[in-house]
This record gives sequence, C-alpha cells and structure tokens, in this order.
Amino acid sequence: MHVSEMAENLKSSEIIKIANQIKEKIKEGKKIHNLTIGDFDPKIFSLPEEFKEEIINAYQKKETNYPPPEGVRELREEISKFLKKKENLEYSPEDIIISGGGRPLIYATYLTTIDKNDKVIYSVPSWNNNHYCHLSGASSTIIKTKPENNFMPTAEEIHANIKGAVLIALCSPLNPTGTIFENEQLKKICDVILEENKKRSTNEKPICLLYDQIYWQLVYEKNKNPNPVSLRPEMKEYTIFIDGMTKAFAATGVRVGWAFGPKKVMNKMKSILSHVGAWAPKAEQIAAANYFKREKNVDQFLNSFKEEIYYRLERFYEGFNDLKKKGYNVDVIQPQASIYLTVKIDLEGQGKLKTNKDVNDYLLEEANIALIPFYCFGAEDSPWYRLSIGTVKKEEIKTILGNLENALKKLK
Ligand SMILES: Cc1ncc(COP(=O)(O)O)c(C=O)c1O
Repeated sequence: MHVSEMAENLKSSEIIKIANQIKEKIKEGKKIHNLTIGDFDPKIFSLPEEFKEEIINAYQKKETNYPPPEGVRELREEISKFLKKKENLEYSPEDIIISGGGRPLIYATYLTTIDKNDKVIYSVPSWNNNHYCHLSGASSTIIKTKPENNFMPTAEEIHANIKGAVLIALCSPLNPTGTIFENEQLKKICDVILEENKKRSTNEKPICLLYDQIYWQLVYEKNKNPNPVSLRPEMKEYTIFIDGMTKAFAATGVRVGWAFGPKKVMNKMKSILSHVGAWAPKAEQIAAANYFKREKNVDQFLNSFKEEIYYRLERFYEGFNDLKKKGYNVDVIQPQASIYLTVKIDLEGQGKLKTNKDVNDYLLEEANIALIPFYCFGAEDSPWYRLSIGTVKKEEIKTILGNLENALKKLK
C-alpha cells in the first residue's frame, strides 16, 4: 500500500524502541528501574488535588461542548496574569492560544513559519525537532552542542548558520539535559536574531524564535530560567513561546498547553489547530482556569513538587560523583531544572561494548537500569545519557546506584 512520502519516511521514535525493549524485559519477569520516560508515575507524582477537583466539577457542570478555537477566555486571562506575576511578561489574553498540550503548538509554529525546504536551526541533543522538521517539510541545520555550554547552542554557532533561516528552535530548560540558558548566552543569541532581522527586507520572512519553556517552573535552587523577551523586549515581535500544565503540574495526560506570541502568528496557529481539532478539552480548560485562581494552592504544589523532584536529582548527582571519585569512567552535570539529570557513562571500547547502544543494552541486562542515550536526541556518538526521575521512588535510589556500581565493577 503506497502512502505519502512524508508518512513513509517518518522515523519512529528511538525512545519508543527502548521502551519496547524494557517491556520485553518486564515480560520476562525482570524488575527494571525505568529511568527513561519523560512522564510521571501518578502513584508517586500525582496531579494537584485541587486541579483534579476542578476537573471533576467542570464535568459535573456539563462543560462538555466545543471550546472556542483559541481556548476558553477565562483560562487565557489567568495565564496572562500568571505570566505577569511569575515572569513579568506582558501578554494579553488575545496573545495566548490554548491547545491539547505543547506538541500541537510546536507543530503549528512550524506550519505557520515554514514553507517547504525553509531552513530551521536547532541544536542537538534536543527533543523532537527532527520530527517537526520532517512533518513541515523544513530543511534542518543542526548545531551539535557541548557540555561546557550546558548543551545550549551559542550565539556564535547560530550566527555562523543564520543566513536564510526562518526559524530557530530553542528549549530552556532543555529536554534532555535539564540545563538552562545563562542570561548572557541567551542575550547574545537574541542580538544575533535582531541584527539579522534588521538586515532583511519587508518582503522577506523574518527569522522567528520558537522558545519552548514547558519545564520553566521546575527550576531549582537560585536558578531562574531566562526568557528572550525579558532580556530583549524587541524580541516580542519574533518569539513564539511554548508552555503548559504538562510537566509543572504532573499533568501529562490532562493535555492543557498554551502558546503566546505575535498576534498574527497566534491567529494563524489558531486557524491551523482548529482544522486539526487539537483543542484541550473544555472541562480541563475551565478547571485549569479555576485552579490558577487558587494561587496559594498552586504555589504550595509547585514548592513541594520541586522539592520531591530535586531530592531525587540531587541523590543521583551525588551518587554519580561518588562513582567518579572511585575511578569509574562516569560523569554528571549539576541538575538545574526539569526532571532530568545528564550523566556520562563512557564504557565504549570496554570488552564487547562498542557503541552507546551496546552500553545501554549492557546496563539493562546487568544492572536492570534503563536510560536514554543522547543519540535518541540526535547527538550521535555522545557518551551522555538522560536519566529521568519521573517514576523513581526515593527508597529505590540506593539500589539503582548499587546496581550500577556492580555492573561497572564487572568491566574493570
Ligand atoms: C521540551 C518539550 N516540549 C514540549 C513537550 C510537549 O509536551 P506535551 O505535548 O505533553 O504538553 C515535551 C514533552 O515531553 C517536551 O519535553
């Protein structure tokens, strides 16, 4: 059966392949410590109780017809206030659209800004930009980032590639690394974009910035996730923010995301998404609006949620540092945000372990630990891995680190 070229050539997710491998092991009766998924085990990290109550209330009040295509006004108003309060960003409800999570909004950003073969710049490791380029027919220019830059692209790297590009896709906090931009790093990138746009004629498309900040509320310690518009207000004209309830409120299955940005882009994205029908359910939208009104509950939830996540990230961080001190060829980056830790396990060339995939298979077999190698995020030949704590119980951490040490010892 012939299908479209686009559908035929759509790559399946590397992460799903690893998930299937894990399922097989579990079927064989093994206890696998699954540190792969960008999701939460709801028994460990559950939705805020008050948000759940509001969802049930909304269904009981029969809020089950179509929502408006741009999203329920009440929720857009609450988001507008929330952005002002937490990030000092001025976006009116008219500049905000709601959708069924962040993904449809990222896709709509690509469709709104890209014509076939238009150039998109993104860095690796990063999440899913390869798929969005494929879906939208974009041609991609990929920047391979370095650990010393927090795995973020630099202004110099972007400057060297900016000619002809119409979209730059950035993400901070970054999936898969859990790192964030430093203010200066991002400021310089904004300057490169603004300078390029000044050079373009009014007949040309400007270069836009897709700024995915879906993890921004999960930032730890004294860190603060910077945003392009606060750093450089002129960036407001070119920046499309992606955001939502998904990660910050352990609401991956609830499906409420939002984008905000220039009016024309938002209007077009709204039209595209209304044809796709990618709305967030109306009851969830009303519930989210009512939940945001319970400001104290929101702050309390975020504080304790972050504490629980950070506790786990810190224990793994310390554990990897201990292994490093003991002489194992591992490394780790200080956690800054999100639910991910970036760890290095450099075993290639030890015995039969020739590639990251071999190392990953070895850890699964010998330590019952599943991680995601960075090649799944487009960074080929990288010895770095994403470790997610979304399904980890506190009391499990010691066992996981012990298993890892035993597996490493066997290779010495
Ligand atoms: C960086 C990033 N952006 C956006 C999303 C989209 O999230 P959702 O569509 O579940 O809201 C994810 C999900 O994993 C993500 O990691």
